[in-house]
Amino acid sequence: MKRILSGIQPSGQLHLGNYAGAIRQFIEMQDEYEMFIFVASYHAMTSGRDAEMLRKTTRQVVIDYIAFGLDPSKTNLYLQQDVPEVTELCWMLACVCPKHLMDKATSYKDKVAKGLPASIGLYTYPILQAADILIVDPDIVPVGEDQVQHIEITRDLAQKFNHYYGQVFKVPQYRLREDAGVLPGIDGQKMSKSYDNTIDPFMPEKPLRKSIMKIVTDSTPQQAPKDPDRCTVFHIFRAIAGRDDPRTLDLAKRYRAGGMGYGQAKQALYELILDHFADARQRRAELMNDPAYIDKVLKDGAAAAQEKVRTVMQRARAAVGL
Ligand code: ADP
Ligand code: TRP
Repeated sequence: MKRILSGIQPSGQLHLGNYAGAIRQFIEMQDEYEMFIFVASYHAMTSGRDAEMLRKTTRQVVIDYIAFGLDPSKTNLYLQQDVPEVTELCWMLACVCPKHLMDKATSYKDKVAKGLPASIGLYTYPILQAADILIVDPDIVPVGEDQVQHIEITRDLAQKFNHYYGQVFKVPQYRLREDAGVLPGIDGQKMSKSYDNTIDPFMPEKPLRKSIMKIVTDSTPQQAPKDPDRCTVFHIFRAIAGRDDPRTLDLAKRYRAGGMGYGQAKQALYELILDHFADARQRRAELMNDPAYIDKVLKDGAAAAQEKVRTVMQRARAAVGL
C-alpha cells in the first residue's frame, strides 16, 4: 500500500483554502493509502512567538482535521514535536543542502516581505519540511499549489543525500487535487491565515454570514449580466460544491442571465457552506468536549509514526557515520 505524508502549520485557524487545497485531498485518500498527517508545530515557530497561542492552535488543528473528516482509524494523526528526530534529520539534510537552494526558495522572500522576522529558522524552513517528509518514507505528498516548490526541494535533497551516502531515502512525489487551484479570500487575494482574509467554516452562523457578505465584488449593477469566472464568490462556491455540481452550474447561469445581485450569490454561498460543513460543525462541537479522545488519537498516531522514523533514522545515521 502506498504511503502518504502531509501536514499543515498551526499558525492560525484553518480556513476554506486549507480545506479546498489540502485537507479535502487527505480525506479522499484515506480509504486507499497508508496515511500520516501531522501538525507542523515547529514550523509555526517561524511566524509567531506566543507559546499559549501555539499550544492552543496546535490542538485546534487536530480537532479540525478530525471534524473535517479525517478518520483516526484510517489516518495516523500526530504532532511534529512527538517526532523530535525530524530536527536531527533536518541537520543532516542541511549539511548536504547548497546555500543557493535556499536562496532560490520563494516562500522566505514572500514571508519576509509580509513582515515575518527574517530568522534562520524561516530561511531553512524547507529543510525541516524535507525532514518531515523523508523521515517516514512516503510515496506521495498531497499539498496545495503553493507547496510544490518545497516538495521539489525535498526531492532534490533526498537525491543529493543518496548521491553522497548511498540509497537512504525514497524520493517522493507531490500530488495536487485535480481542480484545486488557489482559493481566493475575502479580498480576492489568495486566502491565507496571514492575510486576514479567510473564511472559517466553523464560525457561528452570524459571523460566518457576515464574513461572506464582506467578500469584495465589482460594481456591476444588479440587473446586468455578470461573468461568474471573474467573481470571488463564485470561485469559492465552485471550489466547495464542485465544478460539475448542478448547484454550481445553476449559479453560473444566474450570473450570466442578469437580475441577480452579488448579495444573492453570497447568500447562496452561505447556505452552501452551512450545508457542506453541517456534519463537520456538529462533530467539531463534540470533539471540543472530549480532550481524552484527542490525547489518545495523538498517542496512537505518534507511535505509528515513530515506528517508521526508527528505521529511517537508523539508516541515515549509519550512512553518515554516526
Ligand atoms: P496559510 O497560507 O493559510 O498559512 P498554509 O501555508 O498553512 O496556509 O497551507 C496549508 C495547506 O493548505 C497547504 O497545503 C496549502 O497549499 C493549502 N492552502 C492554503 N491556502 C490555500 C488556498 N488559498 N488555496 C488552496 N490551497 C491552500
Ligand atoms: N509548509 C507546509 C505549509 O505551509 C506545512 C508543512 C510542513 C508540510 N512540513 C510539511 C506539508 C511536510 C507537507 C509535508 O502548509
